[in-house]
Amino acid sequence: MTAILGISAFYHDSAAALVVDGEIVAAAQEERFSRKKHDDRFPTHAVEFCLSEGGLTPDQLDYVGFYDKPLTTFERLLETWLAFVPAGYRSFRKGIPVWLKQKLHLPKELRRGLGGDYSGRFVFTDHHESHAASAFFPSPFEEAAILTLDGVGEWSTSCLGVGRDNAIELMKEIRFPHSLGLLYSAFTYYTGFRVNSGEYKVMGLAPYGSPIYKDRLLEHVIDLKEDGSFRMDMSYFNYCQGLTMTSERFHQLFEGPPRAPESDLTQREMDLAASVQAVSEEIMLRMARYAYEKTGQKNLVMAGGVALNCVGNGRILREGPFENVWIQPAAGDAGGALGTAQFIWHQLLKRPRTLTAPDMQQSSQLGPSYSGDEIERVLASAGAKFAVAEDDNQLCEQVAELIADENVVGWFQGRMEFGPRALGARSILGDARSTKMQSVMNLKIKFRESFRPFAPIVLREFVDEYFQMRKDEDSPYMLLVAPVQEERRLPM
Ligand SMILES: [Fe+2]
Repeated sequence: MTAILGISAFYHDSAAALVVDGEIVAAAQEERFSRKKHDDRFPTHAVEFCLSEGGLTPDQLDYVGFYDKPLTTFERLLETWLAFVPAGYRSFRKGIPVWLKQKLHLPKELRRGLGGDYSGRFVFTDHHESHAASAFFPSPFEEAAILTLDGVGEWSTSCLGVGRDNAIELMKEIRFPHSLGLLYSAFTYYTGFRVNSGEYKVMGLAPYGSPIYKDRLLEHVIDLKEDGSFRMDMSYFNYCQGLTMTSERFHQLFEGPPRAPESDLTQREMDLAASVQAVSEEIMLRMARYAYEKTGQKNLVMAGGVALNCVGNGRILREGPFENVWIQPAAGDAGGALGTAQFIWHQLLKRPRTLTAPDMQQSSQLGPSYSGDEIERVLASAGAKFAVAEDDNQLCEQVAELIADENVVGWFQGRMEFGPRALGARSILGDARSTKMQSVMNLKIKFRESFRPFAPIVLREFVDEYFQMRKDEDSPYMLLVAPVQEERRLPM
């Protein structure tokens, strides 16, 4: 038996994943245990959960992988800071202590995190190799083109590669500071949301606006080539040298300062969101076309934070040249924990891959689960009113009735999802036919803005009846957005 633990930590979205003899036994993000969103500390609880799920102790692990090469990242930071002396001093002063104290001594930190009980090797895989591995190895494809689309990992911000059987090969990259993820984050910051977590709000806001700034963006800020590669005019940004994302010049170009975080959203933010979304979709489509030309593959797999842009992904599937597209559900850095473990197993140990349908990701239900007894105990101790259903039929009938009566239902079953999307294991359900449901649901969840979208669920055999998708097209991970069929649309 070979047991490999993958760890992602110390940047954002810490996570752990356990792969035993090539099988994904468990994977979870630390925030789900610590209740601290995007928790970046050593994933103590996630590691503990993964090991207990595998019935292992740290000394029984054969390898521990870390999803990033900290020394290369440190070199990038130093070079960037030096290039911007003296302007970079403030960000240098803020960043350097955590490097000197923690990130430069990762083996020690990791060993300590594992309770000092692990004496084996630590393997540090490239950031984009980890993302690429998480995209290709669990996918259902024997061969595929690979795109990683990210903010930044070490030097790369996005990579093109190809996966065949049990090996991946990365061939081209776009390097820092030119980054699709950071461009999106710059608009996230500018529209008053939190960088590294509010990006999906920008995507959710985009449909309410018109892309009126798209041309301005393409003319001044980003030089986009036919093959999807691009260079950004860094005088519009401040993330290399400062503590903000955008520069004064950016604010002049878009005629105003960034929106103050708690202030009201206006049409302007919606138009800005629509504009950066339109440019991102354009870049993603061009990159996909180039990946197809370059690799000659008919399948595409993707990971990296930008691969959570399900609207862009949907366009790649519909308008791009690939026959099939599969995206790692934990596409952000949490998924790097899974990627590094699988990279060690397939790429470094050269173990073969066995393909299973529909994929190897097990619906991404890789987290903890709780028995009926455990759930009842918790409900009772919280003084909750509850009833136990006799069987699944009774439960489903009751819940269907509640939904049809425009109630909002919290649904909790089986193992928790790995990745940011609720996929039916920890979900909030409502009636998609109700015109008020979106805002009712958002209001019921504290602190949620009313524009935030929910995803519809439909049985696979009806997918093309309701959405502009091919017959029986799988979309199990909420990573492909498609327009609703004209005749199914309800006037609002
Ligand atoms: Fe990343």
